[in-house]
Amino acid sequence: MIKIFPTPKETVKKFAEELKLLIDKSSSKKKFFYIALSGGSTPKLLFKELKKNYLESINWQFVHIFWGDERCVVPESDESNFGVAQKLLLSKIKIPKENIHRIKGEDKPNTEARRYSGEIMMNVPSKNNMPKFDLIILGLGTDGHTASIFPNQIKLFDSENYCDVAVQPKTRQKRITITGKVINNSENIYFLVTGKEKSEVVAEILNKKGNYKKHPASYVVPTWGNVKWYLDKASSQMIEST
Ligand code: 6PG
Repeated sequence: MIKIFPTPKETVKKFAEELKLLIDKSSSKKKFFYIALSGGSTPKLLFKELKKNYLESINWQFVHIFWGDERCVVPESDESNFGVAQKLLLSKIKIPKENIHRIKGEDKPNTEARRYSGEIMMNVPSKNNMPKFDLIILGLGTDGHTASIFPNQIKLFDSENYCDVAVQPKTRQKRITITGKVINNSENIYFLVTGKEKSEVVAEILNKKGNYKKHPASYVVPTWGNVKWYLDKASSQMIEST
């Protein structure tokens, strides 16, 4: 399903509304809600919206927060996906600290990838013998990467590991990423994508044209859950209506 909104602000506004509905569905049954956040700059607008309008109205104590990927940097770094979320949202909400499952970007990448795989396995309920997140939020790079699965490491999509070490092809920065099998086993997968610079790759993926087979995000096909694209007008402008 594709949802298009006029501006990034309106896109994250609607995204936050739907996120509240999903969490409420779990918390009303006294069930934990397991979410994996995306990184980069797009989620910052979402975190600001959640801080502004959902501090009290979401039962954060029922939410367990993971990340779909992390840069191998210290949490204090501006590059840290955890650091950004902590600063903009997590430090403002009433959430038990044991519900925040950060990837330790400061640790040895291979060791941390194994440790985090274990943290997911120990905490996230499973289905089909794979961890089943209630929601995985994904961003999209202009090269079609998602989480930190880059086109030149597309084999990570089919890794047997829940998490692996990736390398950002331009900066050579090491990353820890969840892999395709975990992503596709999620109950809900929501892409949150804004900006004109993403319009070509969005259209290639959604219209299955051009280089779409080279884009890791093209392989996000939920095994049994559902996928939604939250787009602003600018990022959706090249989609051809079929
Ligand atoms: C990361 C992300 C990555 C991101 C895309 C889009 O750690 O960078 O998880 O997959 O979502 O690169 O990034 P922007 O939102 O900054 O465009």
